[in-house]
Amino acid sequence: MVQVAVFGYGTVGSGVVEVLETNQEEIGRRAGDGIRVKYVLDIRDFQGDPIQERIVHDVDVILADPEIKVICETMGGIEPAYTFTKKALMSGKSVCTSNKELVAAHGAELMRIAGEHQCSYLFEASVGGGIPIIRTMNDALTAEKIDRIEGILNGTTNYILTKMERDGAAFDIILKEAQELGYAERNPAADVEGHDACRKIAILSSILYGHNVDYKQIYTEGITKIMPRDFAYAKALDCKIKLIGLSVITKEGEFAMVSPRLVPSYSPIASVNDVFNGIQIHSNMLDTSLYYGRGAGKLPTASAVVGDVVECVKKLGTSIPAAWDETEKKLTEIGAFRQRYLVRMKGKPEALMQKMEDAFGKVQAVQIPEAADEFAVLTEEMSEREYQDAAEEFTEIISMIRS
Ligand code: HSE
Repeated sequence: MVQVAVFGYGTVGSGVVEVLETNQEEIGRRAGDGIRVKYVLDIRDFQGDPIQERIVHDVDVILADPEIKVICETMGGIEPAYTFTKKALMSGKSVCTSNKELVAAHGAELMRIAGEHQCSYLFEASVGGGIPIIRTMNDALTAEKIDRIEGILNGTTNYILTKMERDGAAFDIILKEAQELGYAERNPAADVEGHDACRKIAILSSILYGHNVDYKQIYTEGITKIMPRDFAYAKALDCKIKLIGLSVITKEGEFAMVSPRLVPSYSPIASVNDVFNGIQIHSNMLDTSLYYGRGAGKLPTASAVVGDVVECVKKLGTSIPAAWDETEKKLTEIGAFRQRYLVRMKGKPEALMQKMEDAFGKVQAVQIPEAADEFAVLTEEMSEREYQDAAEEFTEIISMIRS
């Protein structure tokens, strides 16, 4: 029997205990040994919960116990998770985490420490919830040269955008619903401002390059400025609006960004709705592939953590190779990235079209019946810098969505 500990008995941590108990037999068979939760670390008590007898408040009790071989870190946030993880790895205990913030900030260092102590630092649950995207990139796609990753990486915002489009419901009410369903981060800004998706695309980009992509260099825009009318314009163009984490290699450079984007309705990723996540990868041999599943929620996320625990148990005493190293990967300035822009303008097209074409080049006008006081144009491909320069000439711009 392999003894494990769980750090943090919140949504995901309690899910880990549940997954290990519910699928005990299958998990034991696949791991080659039974897996038992010996301790749960939390500052709280859980009187009346069967877990109470295994709750400890002092991390050192766990770190000093030689029986503990694997730790599930489901605390979230940087500290104290970072310190606890480092100490655990230094004492030869593998750590499996759902903590994208920590992986994005210190993943390379933690994988190196694991490598130096014959244990592993695994983080399947940190991107795409239950979707096995990390293992897919690390193992299954190793014969591929990937040039584009487009991910719907945040369940909460996908849930909000889907409901806004379907029901025309108000942003705040849907956000509250998502929080009640256990999808959202404690701080909703992490979801709606795109910070969570930013950490996740940084992790996928780091795997792509094998070097550390600092999330702080990734241009990030959330969904708080998306209005019900935007969906009508998107529909007129046969598109959906999705919050996309993009990592792409073009002839202009290597780019990553997070922003709402127009996605053609026929594209596989356009049909990723509700709390589901989807990651569309383009690579040179396989062409386009899509990875789809529940991107948030207790059991899907916990299942990914437990999958990593099984992997560690199968490889006890060895180290699973690091997915990327500590060398910093510098990406190209987003100003050079070429794409199209849907620009909403106050006024009438007749009055502004000539000026717009002078500034933006050829554009396609888009009008929707419900908006007599405004219109939109879709530009041809131009760089972000060219767009920003041209946009400065117009006080009439209401908003812009990239495509
Ligand atoms: N708040 C995150 C989301 C949880 O909504 O996707 C999973 O990382």
